[in-house]
Amino acid sequence: MVAARITVNGKETPISPAAPHTTVLDFLRERGLTGTKEGCAEGECGACSVLVARPGVHRPTDWVAVNACLVPVAALDGQEVVTSEGLATVDASGTPAVLHPVQEEMAVRGGSQCGYCTPGFICSMASEYYRPDRCANAGPADGPGDSDGTNGSDGSDGSEHGPNGFDLHALSGNLCRCTGYRPIRDAAFAVGMPAEDDPLARRREQSAPPPVATRYTQDDSAFMRPGTLADAVRLLRERPEAVVVAGSTDWGVEVNIRSRRAGCVVAVDRLPELRTLHTGSDHIEIGAAQTLTEIERRLDGAVPLLAELFPQFASRLIRNSATLGGNLGTGSPIGDSPPVLLALEATLVLADADGEREVPLSDYFTGYRQSVRRPGELIRAVRVPLPLSPVTAFHKIAKRRFDDISSVAVAFALDIEDGTVRKARIGLGGVAATPVRALATEAALEGRPWTAQTAEAAARVLRTEGTPMDDHRASAGYRSAMLGQSLLKLYARTTEAVSS
Ligand code: FES
Ligand code: FES
Repeated sequence: MVAARITVNGKETPISPAAPHTTVLDFLRERGLTGTKEGCAEGECGACSVLVARPGVHRPTDWVAVNACLVPVAALDGQEVVTSEGLATVDASGTPAVLHPVQEEMAVRGGSQCGYCTPGFICSMASEYYRPDRCANAGPADGPGDSDGTNGSDGSDGSEHGPNGFDLHALSGNLCRCTGYRPIRDAAFAVGMPAEDDPLARRREQSAPPPVATRYTQDDSAFMRPGTLADAVRLLRERPEAVVVAGSTDWGVEVNIRSRRAGCVVAVDRLPELRTLHTGSDHIEIGAAQTLTEIERRLDGAVPLLAELFPQFASRLIRNSATLGGNLGTGSPIGDSPPVLLALEATLVLADADGEREVPLSDYFTGYRQSVRRPGELIRAVRVPLPLSPVTAFHKIAKRRFDDISSVAVAFALDIEDGTVRKARIGLGGVAATPVRALATEAALEGRPWTAQTAEAAARVLRTEGTPMDDHRASAGYRSAMLGQSLLKLYARTTEAVSS
């Protein structure tokens, strides 16, 4: 096996002697690339953002911004990374001679003050600058690509999309303590389109580096990237204690904040069998290792409840790495995707060395961070049955609008025919040791007319579902109240839509 190597700003570098748990952030800084900063080391500030060349959604390669503090450098064996230092054009001596367009706009519009957050903003902004369909999202209000109809604004109305198609959600994972954000938004909305001879724009036309089967060991620990699902499940049978990672958005926090170390980490995010996304006659299958950004862009609104979930799921930086498999695999009762997938009646395809089995998500969770998944078993895919229920909503109640953990989350999927609720599926998060279905509320809705009286009666039932707790995020009473309120909000929204 070839020694592990990574290409940084066009230069190939051996990964050794970094430890298998060494993050991309520490690896870069130890090699003098100190533009990449550490703010939080847990994926919440974006100071560490760098660009990675990944297989593209619309072109062979996308430049994807990720949190370098969460990803082990061994996970990027054979891959290409660009840091803030690699964006400017340099002269023969290696000194930056011409700023990159996003650097230029940030500089002239006052988007950088103390500068600590700036390289991270620059990389996130550059990722959006190179998004191939950004120009398609530019244009007049009510144009494509902006469901709230605020497309094409100069930002003075608080719009999240600029006249250049720039989606401010690209920066939702970057925090700044100094600027007040307006100059940063001005810079984002001022960047043009990449020039014909822009090297990173041209790089998008060639294939992204393929995944490399990796066996990187130092002392007593190893980072493994099997090449196929068969290799992966065989390895997990031999090493059942191994930690399975995809985007490392959860494990990276454990490594940095809780100093956890694993004897063996197995990466599954590039396994082709986990990267499927196709629509059949009776279901949509989403590979467990598709990133949330890839799912969002590939489905392009085909599953409205998922489309409503994604903007509320962490930040763009996290969604660029996080996967549905990871969110379900951790078994957190406050994961954002389980309520939505419960409402969609999703099933999970689990795979091990003996084959596959399909388990309804409603039977998957068995206790706090416990599930029916056996040691050595992987989540291969999530299946969403078709047809979809037409009335859907996802309400995440949290202290911040973006990049926050929910106090409580509710997803609805209702079939309403001739004014009567024929079917109701409701998924809840944050009200029990596991994500749960609101079965009593579903029963209180089904077969009844979709009226204010029915909604109010069912909301009273919904307030009693689960066993919400008091904690630092919210009281049990508040959580219960929000459950009921979310159903009344859905009712109000559906009747507004009918009367307007
Ligand atoms: Fe804060 Fe990485 S250092 S997100
Ligand atoms: Fe100081 Fe952003 S410019 S933190």
